[in-house]
Amino acid sequence: MSDQVNKKPPVTTNDAGIPTANDEHSLSVGPNGPLLLQDHYLVQKLAQFNRERVPERVVHARGTGAFGYFEVTADVSQWSKAAFLNGVGKRTPLVVRFSTVAGELGSADTVRDPRGFAIKFYTEEGNYDLVGNNTPIFFIRDTIKFPDFIHSQKRVPRTGLPSHTAQWDFWTLYPESAHQVTYLMTDRGTPRTLRHMNGYGSHTYMWINAKGEKFWVKYHFISDQGVENFTNAEAGAISGQDPNFHRRDLIEAIDRKEYPSWQLKMQIMPYEDAATYRFNPFDLTKVWPHSDYPLITIGRMVLDRNPANMFNDIEQLALSPANMVPGIAASPDKMLQGRIFSYPDAHRYRIGTNYNQLPVNQPQSEVNNYNKDGAMSYRHNGDQPHYSPNTFNGPQADTQRYGEPEGVVISGEVARTAYTLHPEDNDFIQPGNLYRNVLSETEKEHLVTNIVAHMSQGVDRALQERVINTYWSQVDPDLGRRVAKGLGLEVSVR
Ligand code: HEM
Repeated sequence: MSDQVNKKPPVTTNDAGIPTANDEHSLSVGPNGPLLLQDHYLVQKLAQFNRERVPERVVHARGTGAFGYFEVTADVSQWSKAAFLNGVGKRTPLVVRFSTVAGELGSADTVRDPRGFAIKFYTEEGNYDLVGNNTPIFFIRDTIKFPDFIHSQKRVPRTGLPSHTAQWDFWTLYPESAHQVTYLMTDRGTPRTLRHMNGYGSHTYMWINAKGEKFWVKYHFISDQGVENFTNAEAGAISGQDPNFHRRDLIEAIDRKEYPSWQLKMQIMPYEDAATYRFNPFDLTKVWPHSDYPLITIGRMVLDRNPANMFNDIEQLALSPANMVPGIAASPDKMLQGRIFSYPDAHRYRIGTNYNQLPVNQPQSEVNNYNKDGAMSYRHNGDQPHYSPNTFNGPQADTQRYGEPEGVVISGEVARTAYTLHPEDNDFIQPGNLYRNVLSETEKEHLVTNIVAHMSQGVDRALQERVINTYWSQVDPDLGRRVAKGLGLEVSVR
């Protein structure tokens, strides 16, 4: 708005561009009379107002974002042929959306929750979306439980109130959640700003080089600002004082030209290692220890431009794990596989069938195919043929260059089962290691008090005992004892 202050005001028009005579008074029969339907400016103003909202995202509704670029800092051609990753110094424009998971569009920024960390790279070979979180792991390992898990985080149908009972009930019945819940209950569950947190692709993805060799990879975006978190009390106080704290901080930092940046570091596993690795490398509840697969820095992401319009640039932004460019492919992770369906489906419902034609979602490379028409379509390919095959030089798929990676053999009986177990597959080993070996004594103390505070809100004694016995004591007996003590429980911790 400040840009407009020194300019001559333009003449108001309706949406068809027709100049408007008066924006103060509706057209009426005499000063006191009823209004006239022929006041099309008024009718349009009211009708457009009624249609200002699109459905909010079913999860991650609360968010904000910024534009910037990715710069390659190390050669990755030995692992991936992705064009945007090749050539040191090469820059690719991008947009990032940060979000909370459970809260609605108008909820507070600083609540305890994982944060979405989702990037759309506008590459020369189409849009590449990496839709990750600020945690390297997740609560569940099979897509089929996602709606149930999310329901346990959302409002109870009868009361419209969130329920900590539902959360702990689900988590204890699904102990694979223990790693993510431990992480969430540390102060990393309440990041100080969006600039002071890391981002992770979380899933294992496949990279393919120009020779067709395949690798399993994980993405880590490590904040150049450092990782800083609020305590539970600080986060709670700020939720009340300034529910827009994170959004405001990001906009103001970029306005001040303090551009936040992250180093992209990769973990790269030789393709053949996966079958015999000590735990299932596709299980989203596990990290790969850095001692097994060290971090390799390959690039840098910088955010240097605020959106011009939050609704157009961020609310209508459509990010999808299905958007993978040549050189990057899916892994058999049962969560990733489900997400590849779910996001474009959500976008068609939330924004409309031609959501990819909106400026923020449009690829910066050419689009050529035989899809056409639909609500709000405006992109077209001139006189290109509209069916395939044709003899008029219409677009042709290129199996030679872009075919499926060779040598991926997947077989087995059709069944509804858990993953086959690897020797060290266990839900409590990694959260236990996080507690014992990674957290400092202060961080452990905060973990305990954060859990106690969370479990003190409407969770009855019987469920508290179950959580301690079947969950925290299994993560680590000392943690179980400390949480029990904090809750004032006499529990025989095994
Ligand atoms: C948003 C589904 C797991 C990160 C969404 C949306 C859906 C969805 C439907 C809303 C999309 C939209 O309306 O634009 C699922 C399903 C999952 C799953 C079915 C499991 C099978 C995950 C995981 C992560 C994640 C594991 C992180 C590693 C995100 C993020 C957003 C999101 C960051 C917000 C994207 C944005 O900013 O627009 N998810 N999700 N989700 N999800 Fe998931």
